[in-house]
Amino acid sequence: MHAAVLTDLAAPPQYGEHPDPVAEGPGEAVVEVLAAPLHRLTRGHATGSHYAARATLPLVPGVDGVVRDENGRLWYAVLRDRPLGTFAERTVIDRRYTVPLPDDIDPVRIAAAMNPAMASWLALRRRVTFRPGSRVLVLGATGVAGRMAVQIARHLGASYVAAAGRNPSRLAGLTDLGADAAVTYDQIDSVANADVVLDFVWGEPSARAMRSVVMSRALRSTALDWIQIGSVAGQTLELDAELLRAARVQLCGSGVGSVALPDILTELPAIADAVHSSAIDVPARPVPLADVAETWDASSDDRVVYVP
Ligand SMILES: NC(=O)c1ccc[n+]([C@@H]2O[C@H](COP(=O)([O-])OP(=O)(O)OC[C@H]3O[C@@H](n4cnc5c(N)ncnc54)[C@H](OP(=O)(O)O)[C@@H]3O)[C@@H](O)[C@H]2O)c1
Repeated sequence: MHAAVLTDLAAPPQYGEHPDPVAEGPGEAVVEVLAAPLHRLTRGHATGSHYAARATLPLVPGVDGVVRDENGRLWYAVLRDRPLGTFAERTVIDRRYTVPLPDDIDPVRIAAAMNPAMASWLALRRRVTFRPGSRVLVLGATGVAGRMAVQIARHLGASYVAAAGRNPSRLAGLTDLGADAAVTYDQIDSVANADVVLDFVWGEPSARAMRSVVMSRALRSTALDWIQIGSVAGQTLELDAELLRAARVQLCGSGVGSVALPDILTELPAIADAVHSSAIDVPARPVPLADVAETWDASSDDRVVYVP
């Protein structure tokens, strides 16, 4: 079969011949890959830079995707710590880490959406007590996961969603996706009384935003759940101690590890359903897997999804 193989961390994977996979353990099955997304976790796992990665070379990247089994059924599959990922014509899944999909789904849309959608969905459903009617602020709302967070917060019942980012022209499109306000990090004072902050940026913009959110709060003793999800602006943040005393800030993170795998799997069907029902706009770009070397480092507004 054909696959994308990574042999050197300093170079992109190369498309070529690869031995056919074999199912060995209990619950394993060889499946056909229909669509495999390229996201930060994919690259982080392949290169070992993600905190949950245990990469050894050579490997076939791809930590998730939409696959078809020997009976023609479609599944969304998560692959964990395997040298053979989803960037291949066929791979091996562990049935415990799959969820069934309807026959009429668009594999590319589902593959593109699941990882970035999980970011905010799990944060709101599994890391805090999110109540319909809550007010949500999304930091880093112009990225793929941030754009989905705006829509997912609304889908899960937020009464008010504010989107924050650094790029005014990209922020402008977010009101069409359901944001009540779209502001730069310098304008966060104007976002009154968030109950939940979904933070995809961390670093200096988050530190600044936290001061604005806390100090502009009408009633400081009402709970403010600040959920750390991504770190595009930095791994560390200088946190002013007084902010934690000045308001009832509850700081937590959401990601692989802080949400148990069974809880993640429990949420996946509802996420797939929301994507399938078109409640969530998905910026997906199907790319032939043969073009993996040219697109591995691509940064674009669309999520690259490899189609073997
Ligand atoms: N914990 C989880 O479950 C989970 C799941 C998925 C993703 N994530 C994380 O969430 C983050 C975003 O992922 P993504 O897929 O949405 O990435 P993405 O599509 O590449 O978007 C990144 C966004 O970050 C912004 N950005 C980049 N550098 C910045 C900086 N120095 N200061 C402020 N903004 C900056 C960009 O803003 P511009 O529009 O201005 O260029 C862009 O909109 C990543 O850290 C990713 O690892 C976490």
